[in-house]
Amino acid sequence: MKVQVAETAGFCFGVKRAVDMVLEQIESGRKPVYTYGPIIHNDLVVRSLEERGIRVLQDLNDLASLQEGTIIIRSHGVSAREQALMEASGLIVVDATCPFVKKIHQIAEKAGREGKTLIIAGDPQHPEVQGITGWSAGRTEVVDSPEAAAELSLLPGEAAVLVAQTTFHARKFENIVEILKKRGYDMFVMNTVCSATDERQTEARKLACQVDAMIVVGGRHSSNTRKLYEICKENCGNTYLIETLDDLDLKPFQSFLCVGITAGASTPNSIIEEVTDYVRTKL
Ligand code: F3S
Repeated sequence: MKVQVAETAGFCFGVKRAVDMVLEQIESGRKPVYTYGPIIHNDLVVRSLEERGIRVLQDLNDLASLQEGTIIIRSHGVSAREQALMEASGLIVVDATCPFVKKIHQIAEKAGREGKTLIIAGDPQHPEVQGITGWSAGRTEVVDSPEAAAELSLLPGEAAVLVAQTTFHARKFENIVEILKKRGYDMFVMNTVCSATDERQTEARKLACQVDAMIVVGGRHSSNTRKLYEICKENCGNTYLIETLDDLDLKPFQSFLCVGITAGASTPNSIIEEVTDYVRTKL
């Protein structure tokens, strides 16, 4: 049995930076420390940080009841309104928004200032997309698929800026651009799909084509993990999504000669190594 682990598997730059910023706060001994939403989409990491005193706020209502402490904005970022409320709350604000997401906030803000419509290719329910939406003062539309893009209509003379959620499926984004361009809209396209995502997706696709089975390790709420799973499943029918080693059932793997492993951007190396070692020793 050959086991191949994707080189790009695991924490991306922005997630590592955000987790490191939380760890710095723990080490500084400052208390209380809150994160606005779970710092990453990985329950194990969040639980272990909670054990070390980090408390997770769910929304602005939770924030309203606080008078002191430190609040950390996670890598997904927040809307301009949320950020302003945090700054006005009297808490120390530590901004761990990924710089690549920050860049999209700036594009959104500029689009709103210039009276342009902001189109975001992404999941409207995702906090990153909700945050981006909140930086534009103008019309904002979110399209999550080429079909949704086909239904979008702009008024004659309406100028638009198209961006993508950083973890959006790179090929889907290209399809959306193609569809909107065919309509002849006055549209400025900024491909903001993060290269970390792109590299991970490209490598996952390549690996899935070469192996008999794929294991994708990551949080069930992690959108980039789910997308990796979709890509692998399209190219390798025997693809399994697991959050931890406990979810892995090796029975179906007995007949496979080559297994590939990849992991979402919020999966710690320790879990990837644990899964890899287990597969290598048990098969
Ligand atoms: Fe940032 Fe890209 Fe990760 S946008 S949070 S480095 S996937």
